Amino acid sequence: MFEYFDLSKPEVDLDNLSADDVAIEVDNLTLYFDQKRALHDIKMRIPRRQITSVIGPSGCGKSTLLGCFNRLNDLIPSCRIEGQVLMNGRNIYHRKEDVAALRSKVGMVFQKPNPFPMSVYDNLVYGLRVQGVKDRRTLDNAAEQALRDVALWREVKDRLFDSALTLSSGQQQRLVIARAIALQPEILLLDEPTSALDPISTLTIEELITQLKQKYTVLVVTHNMQQAARVSDFTAFLHNGHLIEYSDTNRLFTRPKEQQTEEYITGRFG
Ligand SMILES: Nc1ncnc2c1ncn2[C@@H]1O[C@H](COP(=O)(O)OP(=O)(O)O)[C@@H](O)[C@H]1O
Ligand SMILES: [Mg+2]
Repeated sequence: MFEYFDLSKPEVDLDNLSADDVAIEVDNLTLYFDQKRALHDIKMRIPRRQITSVIGPSGCGKSTLLGCFNRLNDLIPSCRIEGQVLMNGRNIYHRKEDVAALRSKVGMVFQKPNPFPMSVYDNLVYGLRVQGVKDRRTLDNAAEQALRDVALWREVKDRLFDSALTLSSGQQQRLVIARAIALQPEILLLDEPTSALDPISTLTIEELITQLKQKYTVLVVTHNMQQAARVSDFTAFLHNGHLIEYSDTNRLFTRPKEQQTEEYITGRFG
């Protein structure tokens, strides 16, 4: 696994980020489903325009943590949250937060590509239309730019009005990422975005993720440690709802501080 690491790259200390460099500040976040605690007192600062991966065994709370960043957990009646999640200095769990606006700033993509059953173009401009944008030129430009951002423009520019369901699954996943990008989000949450894809499409998406950080803060959940090592700048290791270790990716994989991290990354459990 060590071939993935550029060991000459200086280690970044997450404790010394300036306020401007922090996209999300997670402050003593605890999450319950009924009486069961799924996240325990999580504290982490997620750097802006960097790629942060979340790893850990199945059921450790990765998706639950990601869902805290766009308030997806609001949809689950048994879910209760304590603590704060700050973006641009504001707690997104404040009762006055506009959740629809939050979700357009924090896009989310899931494991299985889920384009809407409509044309490629209609998928891309769906969110803007919901926001009331009607101007054709604005919609066209947003669609083209989003497709260019995910390196899909060349492949689909002559198929914009075909059903999105006619694309390959790798293309569909890039389209879904483009659909989120068309809303000009600040943050992209990717929950195991390549688990349902073949190896070639997986590589394409991994390359795309590394490009996306020029414009976006990216959080990617993966159960694939090689993927975390290949794409991310920072890695968080969760176990049983506890954040065991969170640091520079090179550091976490080559010199973990915690024994549990070492056991996990060397394949002794999970
Ligand atoms: N809607 C829910 N209701 C009750 N428990 C849930 C719900 N969603 C997840 N959980 C539980 O929370 C824990 C974390 O789940 P999850 O975040 O999906 O893990 P991961 O993504 O790491 O596999 C698991 O024990 C899971 O069973
Ligand atoms: Mg999950």
